[in-house]
Amino acid sequence: MDRFLIKGGRKLSGSVAISGSKNATLPVMAACLLPQGKSILHNVPHLNDIKMMAHVLRVTGARVDSYDHTLEIDSTHCSFFEAPYELVSKMRASIYVMGPLLARFGQAKVSFPGGCAIGTRPVDMHLQAMEALGAEIEIEHGYILARCKKLQGAEINFDKISVGATANALMAAVLAEGETTISNAAREPEIGSLIDVLTAMGAQITGRDTDRLFIRGVTSLQPAVSSMIPDRIEAGTFLIAAALTGSEITVTSCRPEHLTSLLEKLLEAGLNITTAADQIIIQPGSSLKAVDIVTLPYPEFPTDLQAQFMTLMCLAQGNSRIEETIFPDRFMHVAELNRLDASITVEKNIALVKGVPNLSGAQVMATDLRASAALVLAGLAARGETSIARIYHIDRGYEDIEKKLQTLGADIRRIRA
Ligand code: EPZ
Repeated sequence: MDRFLIKGGRKLSGSVAISGSKNATLPVMAACLLPQGKSILHNVPHLNDIKMMAHVLRVTGARVDSYDHTLEIDSTHCSFFEAPYELVSKMRASIYVMGPLLARFGQAKVSFPGGCAIGTRPVDMHLQAMEALGAEIEIEHGYILARCKKLQGAEINFDKISVGATANALMAAVLAEGETTISNAAREPEIGSLIDVLTAMGAQITGRDTDRLFIRGVTSLQPAVSSMIPDRIEAGTFLIAAALTGSEITVTSCRPEHLTSLLEKLLEAGLNITTAADQIIIQPGSSLKAVDIVTLPYPEFPTDLQAQFMTLMCLAQGNSRIEETIFPDRFMHVAELNRLDASITVEKNIALVKGVPNLSGAQVMATDLRASAALVLAGLAARGETSIARIYHIDRGYEDIEKKLQTLGADIRRIRA
């Protein structure tokens, strides 16, 4: 298995262009099963999760061709309604095919996603939405069997906010008979971009960017051409890399308006931030101040930047309190950061970070996608050399991260095992 070798303590400089969003692309790929024909997606990142979703679509009979940063998805000959265990167990987002398969073919057989490093991650709200729309759900041998001759519009009220359940409900409701409302819907930009693509396919959806979506079902949809929004989590990760190393960099091809909560916290921590249409310039301040964060659904502080921000707080002056409200177990990076001489204690879903003057390089191990990113950031700031094992986690969600960091002046090498 590959690992990263990082020599820390170097300043970064220059600019980095952000890739298309993984979490916007995955549901849109599934949505391409809804129309009959070839949809085209531009600005698609080269990531293992995208390759995995392409494989899931091919299993249903879709044809998926990829060239440069474009995907062509032709769902004309889709005929198999199953997302098998060996795929779903590797990537939870495979469950996104359930809504489209049920809406277009009246049936879907999807393996229960396994747990992962950040918790059990149930799918009860996905199933609640499908049942509300009239589907019969059976669970057998670890598979979800959903059937419904014709989905009927319904009132869907989610007890808590779920990005995935909102996406699946949307993709099922667009072809249901009649009108559907989704209350307590997720408002993440990735849901907005899914709504844009579904609308381009001919769906009738109102309430974009609000927590109440209204869908008027149509009888069929047409293939669409669309371009993926930039990855706000990748952009935030690079901003934190600059903050950690006391560097000035420019992040380009991004959407500053998708990062408001992070930018506010970076300003509070003493960084200088300048934004323009599609770029953010970050410059060091006089000192790095400890700041508290609570992760919450969009537009509040994103859970996907919690590990990276915690790394920044390791070097801040003072103590910071980090509360993780989305995933109960999303502190796997704490033990690894403490190996780098951080001073973090955890009590239930709250981490208390005591700022230290330096981190020191060591051998560490990645456990999940965003924890791996946090360890890379720590290595950039740590004194000496840091070796990070199991970096296949990071390849799931960051396109060419070591090349982008090298361009900014970091001393990071991928050692192929
Ligand atoms: C999406 O996951 C993202 N993944 C996650 O990013 C992100 O952390 C998460 O949203 C929250 O923003 C993709 O978009 C592919 P949820 P998702 O449903 O949809 C619970 C990354 O690093 N829940 O919003 O799976 C769930 O356990 C990944 O790129 C239920 O209880 O997240 C969690 O506690 C990690 N029942 C909370 O809701 C359900 O049926 C929010 O989960 C569904 C979710």
